[in-house]
Amino acid sequence: MAGSESPKTLWVIANWKSNKTIEEALHWLSLVGPKLPYRENIKVVVCPTFLALEEMKKAIQVGNFPILLGAQNLSPFPEGAYTGEEAARLLKGIVDLAILGHSERRRNFGETDEMIKNKVAQANQNGITPLVCVQSEDALVPEGCRLVAFEPFEAIGSGHPDTPEDADLVAQGLNKKYAEDLTVLYGGSVTADNVQAFVSRDHLFGVLVGGSSLEPDEFVKIVENCSLI
Ligand code: PGA
Repeated sequence: MAGSESPKTLWVIANWKSNKTIEEALHWLSLVGPKLPYRENIKVVVCPTFLALEEMKKAIQVGNFPILLGAQNLSPFPEGAYTGEEAARLLKGIVDLAILGHSERRRNFGETDEMIKNKVAQANQNGITPLVCVQSEDALVPEGCRLVAFEPFEAIGSGHPDTPEDADLVAQGLNKKYAEDLTVLYGGSVTADNVQAFVSRDHLFGVLVGGSSLEPDEFVKIVENCSLI
């Protein structure tokens, strides 16, 4: 995707992982929602646990906050006899996006490229935007996925982000490989202090934020700092 549009559209996606009760999630929303700067070109997405999705959806609507909702995963199968899974059709209408193939899922839950390919297909069939996480330029981006987060393994939760230059090069490489058709985000130890350096690069169109998204003030600052570019 070309980087010359002005202003470019940026994604700021909060990945809460396995954190926050429903009550804590709603508290976060009550602090963050009213403070978020509304910008046509910034898409803010929060991805809580499955349990909190429904309540968060209602509270976002009631507060009329400029926030979209995402899931952190979904089933590679359609609805049916798949104990413990959340099928995409059941999430339809609640979430706009789903994070798929996060390295924590690949590592701890044995997710394979094949499973991720099926999850992407399920998401697309149900009107949910798939966001696939990749660890390098060589990673496979499944057909039907146009939104990708480059998240180098060592940068996740470590306080040691990749350099914006390197992340930009990887994004450029991915776009070359996939015919300029991807929107690439960066993830891994993003903070309010470093976010601008990433999103101002030509080939990066936003961030996937883990730890720093849990803290309301820090997250608001991340969105504000994106608005400055
Ligand atoms: P982090 O996590 O921001 O805590 O490094 C990012 C992610 O895993 O998506």
